Amino acid sequence: MDNGREQWGSKLGFILAAVGSAVGLGNIWRFPYVVYENGGGAFLVPYFVAIFTAGIPILILEYGMGHKFRGSTPLSIARANKKWEWLGWWPVVTAFFILSYYSMILSWAMKYFTLSFNKGWGSNTDAFFHNDFLQLTSSPFEFGNFIWPVLLGILLIWGIGWFICYKGVKGGIEKLNKILLPTLIGIIVIIAIRGVTLEGATLGLNKLFTPDWSRLTDPKVWISAYGQVFYSLSLAMGIMMTYSSYLPRKTDINNSAFMTAFANCGFEFLCAIGVFAILGFMATSQGVGVDEVVSSGVGLAFVVFPEVFSAMGAWGSILGALFFISLVFAGLTSLVSLVEAITASIIDKTGWERKKVVSGLCIVGATISSVFATGAGLYLLDIIDNFVNCYAIVGVGLLEAILIGWIVKPDIIRNHVNKISYFRIGKWWDFIVKFVTPTMLIIMLVQSLISELKSPYGGYPLAATLVYGWAIIGFGVIVALLISRKPWENKSSDKNEEDGEVVI
Ligand code: PHE
Repeated sequence: MDNGREQWGSKLGFILAAVGSAVGLGNIWRFPYVVYENGGGAFLVPYFVAIFTAGIPILILEYGMGHKFRGSTPLSIARANKKWEWLGWWPVVTAFFILSYYSMILSWAMKYFTLSFNKGWGSNTDAFFHNDFLQLTSSPFEFGNFIWPVLLGILLIWGIGWFICYKGVKGGIEKLNKILLPTLIGIIVIIAIRGVTLEGATLGLNKLFTPDWSRLTDPKVWISAYGQVFYSLSLAMGIMMTYSSYLPRKTDINNSAFMTAFANCGFEFLCAIGVFAILGFMATSQGVGVDEVVSSGVGLAFVVFPEVFSAMGAWGSILGALFFISLVFAGLTSLVSLVEAITASIIDKTGWERKKVVSGLCIVGATISSVFATGAGLYLLDIIDNFVNCYAIVGVGLLEAILIGWIVKPDIIRNHVNKISYFRIGKWWDFIVKFVTPTMLIIMLVQSLISELKSPYGGYPLAATLVYGWAIIGFGVIVALLISRKPWENKSSDKNEEDGEVVI
């Protein structure tokens, strides 16, 4: 019996949706820079170590939890251990904040997509982006004007997210991913091929991949690898458990985890090649070193790349349009996964109808996101993104590993996934969940705290990191604790029928 829980149309649909969540801005604008900064080709060692000792094992953990307990993250965790229900709500509350800036970035990308046809960003891309387009104020507390085009884009993006989740798991999310993911891969392949055939591309690729083995002794390099893998696989955000709860009883969990991780990984490499080939071209055409043009994140996408596209002639418009639409597509599938993680949790808790939940959620979300359509939006994005990555994702991941490793006991999940998977995972998995992942995450947490105490993130005033950073982390935990004290109103959440026992 499935208590009427929705289901994917096929296993492929589930994998595409999971990969769709994993593949996002992190692949396109974060990974290439992380590789470059952390020893180039040598970074592949810690990266693959992180994939095998954290990425895939935690993916199996989350898939296993969602599948065994057949619930969104809070419900699955509550069924595993009632006292820890709050841990399931923390990522759900945090997802709201991620959504608020994710929708803003996608709104920018849509606008830049339209600008790319006539290279409407002009010759000074930096001034255009920060002054003309964003009207950036001089401090995170100064909101300045409403930026109407950004607001419009945000509303449109929320509208799309609403439509997809309104349509449900199979009719909305699965369909979206079936269309967008293959399209996205096609686009990135075109960008990568055009990129490597540009003059100077090899310069960029050499810079990216030449290994600097000495960096392997630097703990920061290892921390970056684990951080990238966690972020990129959308772990500890409530998504993967929710998605796997829509799988049929008989399905292959272990295999799905490997496929998701490898697909995401392949996509990351493709992006890195495309981005650095283009940076190599830019450096060559300006007669400077690659080091001088390299950047990541917002600066790469909205300042450096537009400049490259302007220097390219007709191909610039084509590559520009493809690049910005790829950001929109990649981001949209991640955004939808966040909306679904929240939606599923609310439905499980309250028993309300999906359509009502999605509508209410999107109205609230769009309203909160509107704050970002002001002159302070970029600051808010920067601070929130940093705190969510450094503390919320790492904190949730750590507690998840401790909960399953030490309290629930890993063999419960291991036996469950082994029963239904083609190849089995051994005791090594228990060891990873109990010791390896928690150790790495504790080191990451301590490292972030130390540097934060030395000086507030990004050189912002302490008040700004308190209000937009720490307060959001604290808010997430407090709201999670409050929600977990409320009873489960949804009747079908009362029992976990798989094991034939009533758990809560
Ligand atoms: N995995 C996404 C990426 O690589 C980022 C993300 C993390 C999205 C958590 C949603 C939730 O860009």
